[in-house]
Amino acid sequence: MSPKSVQSKSKSPENKLPTKVRIVEVGARDGLQNTKLHVAPAIRAQLVNLLADSGLTHLDTGSFVSPRYVPQMANADQVFSNLNRKPNIVYSALTPNLKGMEMALAAGASEAAIFTSASEGFCQSNINCSIAESLKRFEPVIALAQQHNIPVRGYVSCIDRCPYDGSTNPEQVASISQELYQMGCYEVSLGDTIGTGTPTRIKKVLEATSRSTPMEKLAAHYHNTYGQALANILASLEEGLAVIDSSVAGLGGCPYAPGASGNVATEDVIYMLQGMGIETGVNMDRLLTAANFICRELGIESRSAAGLALTKNNRSQ
Ligand code: HMG
Ligand code: MG
Repeated sequence: MSPKSVQSKSKSPENKLPTKVRIVEVGARDGLQNTKLHVAPAIRAQLVNLLADSGLTHLDTGSFVSPRYVPQMANADQVFSNLNRKPNIVYSALTPNLKGMEMALAAGASEAAIFTSASEGFCQSNINCSIAESLKRFEPVIALAQQHNIPVRGYVSCIDRCPYDGSTNPEQVASISQELYQMGCYEVSLGDTIGTGTPTRIKKVLEATSRSTPMEKLAAHYHNTYGQALANILASLEEGLAVIDSSVAGLGGCPYAPGASGNVATEDVIYMLQGMGIETGVNMDRLLTAANFICRELGIESRSAAGLALTKNNRSQ
């Protein structure tokens, strides 16, 4: 074999694919934060309980944010108090500031998430401060979490494009991710908030970011506005990334990101990973039970292609 062919083999994307992927289910948070119908806390808790029954182990459960900014997430403490908590399951909450972290601790969240952006426009619109101010604001949030042994995850939004500032430089994503990681976030989730990314551009972001934040500390949080999310996930897996955020039934969107539609659907991700022989620990039938439950509550059809096809097949059998 020539040296050239040895080199190209060791670089083949399949060689980097993980054998196991951790799914972070964001349906009860990202999925329900932008819905016309405001879902009651007890129903949000029931969704989280059904998702936990499907084998998902990491559940974004709600947000302790201003109810004036996101009324759909109001009374998140009641979501937490209505959970049938299972051991070894992470019930996490968004905490934009100290007040949010205090509320999350009082509610018994097992993990917190801080969130900022690679673009100034979205940061201002979403959390009413600059990127630098957001990082300063997170310092006491992380300190309080650490006092209580609560792991903190970080989100960087607008990794491809911002609805206010246009395209994002991958080096800016790398720089903010590194700051969050060095501040104490155990993982940094990269948000394609408005779903404009394509595989080549997402790979550039991962290449730049993983130079300063290890790939095993990065997660993919891709919205599916332009139908690119699964392709972007595959490209990310090929780069060695193994944590994927997704939302049951493809629900999701951010009220401060105009035009953003749902997250990639968990059912679509599980279907693809199962087909590729990659382990997730998720039971598809039970996941569909959770998806059908929340779609019935919202009076909408699922946005998951795999979910719709499997439900139709199950009915016709
Ligand atoms: P602000 O107006 O600058 O805050 O908002 P403030 O400190 O001046 O306080 C204003 C009022 O909010 C006060 O109440 C505070 O008590 C209250 P008032 O005295 O006027 O009645 N307040 C709070 N209430 C509840 N919980 C809190 C809290 N903090 C202050 N934690 C703030 C700043 C961060 C609070 C606001 O901008 C906010 O809540 N933003 C949240 C926006 C949000 O949740 N967006 C969606 C999630 S991010 C996302 O979806 C992207 C992601 O999925 C990744 C991706 O897709 O890219 C994660
Ligand atoms: Mg999101």
